[in-house]
Amino acid sequence: MTNEILTPQIPEEEPARQYYYMELAKQLVAERAEKAGRPLTCCVTTFGCQMNARDSEKLKGILETIGYQCVETEDADFLIYNTCTVRENANVRVYGRLGSLKSLKRKEPETMIALCGCMMQEPHVVDTIRRKYKHVDLIFGTHNIYKLAELVFRALNEEEMVVDLQENTDLIVENLPVDRKYSFKSGVNIMFGCNNFCSYCIVPYVRGRERSRKPEEILSEIRRLVEDGVVEVMLLGQNVNSYGKNLETPMTFAQLLEQIVQVPGLERVRFMTSHPKDLSDELIAVMAKYPKICRHLHLPVQSGSSRILKIMNRHYDKEQYLTLVEKIRAAVPDISLTTDIIVGFPGETEEDFLETMDVVEKVGYDSAFTFIYSKRTGTPAASMENQVPEDVVKDRFDRLLALVQKRARERSARFEGQVKTVLVEGINEQDDSLVTGRMDNNILVHFPGDASMIGSLVDVKLDCCKGFYYLGSRV
Ligand code: SAH
Ligand code: SF4
Ligand code: F3S
Repeated sequence: MTNEILTPQIPEEEPARQYYYMELAKQLVAERAEKAGRPLTCCVTTFGCQMNARDSEKLKGILETIGYQCVETEDADFLIYNTCTVRENANVRVYGRLGSLKSLKRKEPETMIALCGCMMQEPHVVDTIRRKYKHVDLIFGTHNIYKLAELVFRALNEEEMVVDLQENTDLIVENLPVDRKYSFKSGVNIMFGCNNFCSYCIVPYVRGRERSRKPEEILSEIRRLVEDGVVEVMLLGQNVNSYGKNLETPMTFAQLLEQIVQVPGLERVRFMTSHPKDLSDELIAVMAKYPKICRHLHLPVQSGSSRILKIMNRHYDKEQYLTLVEKIRAAVPDISLTTDIIVGFPGETEEDFLETMDVVEKVGYDSAFTFIYSKRTGTPAASMENQVPEDVVKDRFDRLLALVQKRARERSARFEGQVKTVLVEGINEQDDSLVTGRMDNNILVHFPGDASMIGSLVDVKLDCCKGFYYLGSRV
């Protein structure tokens, strides 16, 4: 690789090409820092899901390699917004932020502003930014974050807004720098994109077709992470249960998990998200067999109405979902189940909604993310005519939230008095004599401790359940 960096020709292969540009960008950043008499800073602001959070760690890894110091505040030399477009309010927040950056850019024209992530994969968004937010320096999407060094190099050299977007890709670029948020736990992408086209969802359009990383790449990344102090990994994909279908040598997600739990030194494995339609008996058996696999399953139901589920293109009905839950609970009795629910999907009647309430009542989720349906341009549901009036949706949303919280409170209390292993994540934000950690089922526990415990797994007696979390004591 070193030789390639020194060749005057620009390498065509990735990641060699990016390492070449990292060197060039580094020189430019160093020159600017010298002129400023201080190191240049960057701030990456992340919206959206775990995928975006992981992408931001990759962005930071590259930015640090080229000489930027990452900071948490937006008074930095380089501002990057990694956007989400799953619901309209995510977009509104980004436009709001962009508006307020106009005056900053007028006062400090040297500040660089970049936008990336899912919103940028929508042509109408990019048109709006070109027209109304000319102070943006760089736009790129979800398929080319690996190219950040090359793009920064261009943006530092060019006056015009640099826009680099790709519609879809088969390319998976491995082995670029990453700056992890936590020293002891990490997300690991196992696949990218989504092929499911749920009728309300924009993700397949902005993240492209499903593609799986090779198992050997995933395993070697996990081994490297463990060597670096990581004890818990979260395997990431829009639908991890369809992992491996498009590999040269196909393999199932359960087979991959079985290999991952063998990595010495790795204590916990989580994954998200599981689509109910693809959750196999094989996976349930593997979860039951290996205690390292966390006792938590995020199993988005979206709706309890079989009629709505069909229009949502989810490929399961209410009965199948409930049967699946029973099967999982029979194999892994104390597992925590969480879910996502959409209220107010086009055509949802009171009856449909009551079916959703019934599922929540029957399953007893440990927690649930509840969303008001948001119309996404380009999805089939956006052109459905029978959109539900806002006041009806709001009323249903409130009733659902109340039930979700009631059931979650009841469910969460089931471990009171037991001793559980907790991964300590940090000092408690309200009381610094306490530390905060997570049980393997994702429930938070606060108990007396100090910073030396961060990143370690400790046994804690769960003295008292406070709604959705526990107060405990070390045993
Ligand atoms: N791949 C995951 C979900 C990713 S998006 C899965 O299939 O489970 C996260 C959640 O956002 C979804 O589960 C859904 O509940 C919600 N969501 C997606 N599109 C939405 C929309 N148009 N309006 C409201 N909520 C939406
Ligand atoms: Fe969206 Fe459905 Fe894909 Fe999840 S599985 S990302 S909800 S299309
Ligand atoms: Fe949002 Fe993109 Fe994730 S749209 S939810 S950041 S995949």
